[in-house]
Amino acid sequence: MDAHLAKEPRLSARAIGKTFGGTVALKDVDLDIMRGEMLALVGANGAGKSTLVKIICGAQRTDEGEIRVDGRPVTFATVGDALAAGIAVAHQQVAIIPTLTAAENIMLGQEPRRFGLIRDRRLVAEARALAQRFGVDIPLERECGDLGIGENKILDILKALKSDPSLLILDEPTASLTLNESRKLFGFLRDLKAKGLAILFISHHINEIFENCDRVVVLKDGIKVHDGAVRETNPDAVIRQMVGRTIEDEDWTSHATPGAIAVHLADVTVGALQVPDLTVHRGEIVGVAGVLGAGQTDLIEAMAGGRPGLGRGVVALNGLDHLPRSVEEATARGIYLIADNRLKKALFPGLSVEENLMTGSLDQTSRLGFMRQGKALAAARDVIGRLSVKCSGPAQEVLQLSGGNQQKVAFGRWLVRMAHDPAAMPPLLLLDNPTEGVDVGSKAELYALIRGFAEQGASVIITSAEFGEMLKLCDRIYCIADDKLGTGLGRSDFSEERLLLEVN
Ligand SMILES: Nc1ncnc2c1ncn2[C@@H]1O[C@H](COP(=O)(O)OP(=O)(O)OP(=O)(O)O)[C@@H](O)[C@H]1O
Ligand SMILES: [Mg+2]
Repeated sequence: MDAHLAKEPRLSARAIGKTFGGTVALKDVDLDIMRGEMLALVGANGAGKSTLVKIICGAQRTDEGEIRVDGRPVTFATVGDALAAGIAVAHQQVAIIPTLTAAENIMLGQEPRRFGLIRDRRLVAEARALAQRFGVDIPLERECGDLGIGENKILDILKALKSDPSLLILDEPTASLTLNESRKLFGFLRDLKAKGLAILFISHHINEIFENCDRVVVLKDGIKVHDGAVRETNPDAVIRQMVGRTIEDEDWTSHATPGAIAVHLADVTVGALQVPDLTVHRGEIVGVAGVLGAGQTDLIEAMAGGRPGLGRGVVALNGLDHLPRSVEEATARGIYLIADNRLKKALFPGLSVEENLMTGSLDQTSRLGFMRQGKALAAARDVIGRLSVKCSGPAQEVLQLSGGNQQKVAFGRWLVRMAHDPAAMPPLLLLDNPTEGVDVGSKAELYALIRGFAEQGASVIITSAEFGEMLKLCDRIYCIADDKLGTGLGRSDFSEERLLLEVN
C-alpha cells in the first residue's frame, strides 16, 4: 500500500444531508473511516444512524454532500456500485434462509446465473475456502435453521465479506446476541481489523463499544455532536451526548410484597424444553435466561397461546388450567405477549403507527364500532407521547420508523390493549426481548413502565438476550441448561457471571 494511502481515509463523507418529507434525518454530517479502524456510530432511536449507513452503501441517495473513497469522489446509484467500490453491509435483520445450508447461504445471491447450480460442489468448496480464510469454524453442511442465532450472524457477515470489501458496515449486529455470542463476534471482528479492514459498527450497547472500538461518533437528531477516540471519553459522557441527559443506574427492584400465585407450571414440556417447576406471583417480575434458541421463546409463546398443542403438563396460568389453545383465549385471560422479531411477528409493516397500535385492541365483532375505535385512537395517541415514539405523526407507516421506534410501537400495542380491554384478572405480561434495539434513554422508560405494572399487581415473565437487563429488573431468574429449566435464583444470587455459568 502506498504510504499516502494509509493516511487517507478509506471513506470520507462530507456535509451529508437527508430529509424525508418534513423529517430531517441527517444534517451536514461529516464522517471519516480509516483503514484498520473499528469506528462506532451511536445515537438515540431515530438519530439517523441507519440512514447514514444506507447512503454510504448505495441503498439510498443523499440529498446533499459528497462521498469519497480513497480520496476519489463517488456516486453510488445502487448497492452493487458500493460493493464494487469495496463497501459491504450486514444489515440488522440477518438475511439468512433457515432451510438452506450454511454453505448455500454464504454463496447465495452473488452470481444469480449460478443459482441453479447452488448444490454444486464447486460452490461448497468456495464457501469452505472463504470460511477458512476468515477463520470461521461453523459446520457448513448444516441447515442454518439448526444453527444458533450467533452463528447465523457470523454467516451473514461472512456473506458480506465474500465480495472482499475494504469497508464492512454492521448495523446493530449484537442486538439479539447474548454476551458470549457477542464476545465471539468481536474476536472475529478484531481479526478482520488486524487484516486492515475498516469497520463501521452500530450498537446501543455502550459497554461493548468501549471494550472494542477505537473511535466513537455520536449522532443526535441527525447532527454529529461528537467524534473522538474512545479512550478520551467515557460511557456517561457518550450517553449524555446521545440522549441529552445522564441515565442514573436506577433501582428497578420491587418494593411490593408478592401476591397470590399467578403462574404455576409443574412437569410441563414445551417442545424439547422441560419445565419441572416455574412459579410467578402477582407483582413479581421473573426472568428466563438461556443461550439463544434454548427454548425460552417457545416457552413464552406457548404461554401466550401462540404454540397450541406444543406443551403438556400441569398448568395454572392466570386462571387457566391448561396452556392457552389460541392467542384469543390467552388475551381473554389477560395474558399478553410482546414477541421478539417485531417485523415478522408483532407489526404490520404497511400500516400506520396508529393502526398498528390499535390492531389487537379492536376485536373482530366491533371493528367498525365507532366508540371503541375512538377510544383506541385516543389511547394510541397517548402511547406515542408516553413512549416518545419518534414519528412524523400517527399516520406515518410503521415501516418508515427507525428500528428502535418500531420496537416501541410493538411494546405500545399491548399498552393500548390493556388500557381499553381490561381483562378480569391482573394481566400476565410475557416479554420476549422487549427492548431489542431500543436506546438507553427509552430503555429506562420501558423498565419504569414494566415495574409500574408489577407494582399494580401484574405478573411479568421476561426473557432477554441482554442478561444485564434481567439482572436489573427481575425479582427472580430461572436459567435454562441442557433443555431444562433450573430452580429460580433470588436477587442475592444475581450476577452476570453466575447466569453465564448456569446457562452453559
Ligand atoms: N423511508 C423513510 N421515510 C420517512 N422517514 C424515514 C424513512 N427512513 C427513515 N426515516 C426517518 O429518519 C429518521 C432517522 O431514522 P434512522 O432509521 O436513520 O434512525 P436510527 O438512528 O437508525 O435509529 P434506531 O436506533 O432506532 O435504529 C427517523 O425519524 C425515521 O423515522
Ligand atoms: Mg437503525
